[in-house]
Amino acid sequence: MAGQVEGKVALVTGGASGIGEAIVELFAREGATVIATDIDELRGPELAKRITKAGGQAIFLEQDVTSEERWIKIVAEIAKRYGRLDILVSNAGIGIAVPSIVDMTLGDWRKQNAINLDGVFLSVKHCLPLMRKTGGGSIVMMSSLAGLRGAPGLSAYSATKGGVRLFAKSIAMECAAAGDGIRVNSVHPGIIDTPIWGKIPTGATGAGQNAPIDPEERARVATPLGRAGQAAEIASGVLYLASDASRYVTGSELVIDGGMNAGGVQRRA
Ligand SMILES: NC(=O)c1ccc[n+]([C@@H]2O[C@H](COP(=O)([O-])OP(=O)(O)OC[C@H]3O[C@@H](n4cnc5c(N)ncnc54)[C@H](O)[C@@H]3O)[C@@H](O)[C@H]2O)c1
Repeated sequence: MAGQVEGKVALVTGGASGIGEAIVELFAREGATVIATDIDELRGPELAKRITKAGGQAIFLEQDVTSEERWIKIVAEIAKRYGRLDILVSNAGIGIAVPSIVDMTLGDWRKQNAINLDGVFLSVKHCLPLMRKTGGGSIVMMSSLAGLRGAPGLSAYSATKGGVRLFAKSIAMECAAAGDGIRVNSVHPGIIDTPIWGKIPTGATGAGQNAPIDPEERARVATPLGRAGQAAEIASGVLYLASDASRYVTGSELVIDGGMNAGGVQRRA
């Protein structure tokens, strides 16, 4: 049976860890040729090797999503190797936590924006022309539940993810108006058990918590389904948006959050 993204060429940023890694693995299993990019030059090549060994098709390219120069080179490399790009997943992101916004430096604010928002802007600016030449495709932007609801202590993160949400809708409208066959959607994970929770920087002032946050513990209290999500559970939603199964879906937002956005429940003990 053909895979759900058989024969498609897909680029996944932040593809070396967590949700990105799960997307890269799932896309490769479903028949895509995957380009995983990341600043992590240890995990990225290992992932590509693992996939190739299992019979899939994946390569790793080092990339800091904030560098426009690197974006130009990455897209040129994809055009040279494959001559097309069908799927873009703008997934790379970080979260800087400070208990109060008054403790956030302008430098931290800018760093948060540079990766989560500038990086997504650059991905679309530089990938769209190749995707249009390909004749259509799907762009998936990784937002967050924090892009739909307030997130105290993560206000700068939340601002970037809210920005990603409306950026996705606006690009969806631009693509629809252009009639280029490119669909654009955002994904909004809740609390997902990935390495991001263990490495949340606390800002230059050091005013944040130093102890790593345990996503499972947090999700048990905050999530109606009573547990943290798994990276693979986000990847399957991204696969849907990337594949032709969602061919009538654009400008939409897929919330995968164990029910958090819907409301609160009191679970039976
Ligand atoms: N884990 C969660 O609970 C959760 C919830 C909502 C949204 N998200 C979003 O999902 C995305 C993936 O997060 P994750 O949980 O898998 O975290 P993760 O830390 O496991 O993975 C993020 C990856 O992005 C890479 N990265 C960081 N800065 C980069 C840069 N400048 N250029 C290129 N790559 C860079 C990291 O090296 C890492 O491999 C992020 O955008 C995050 O905001 C995560």
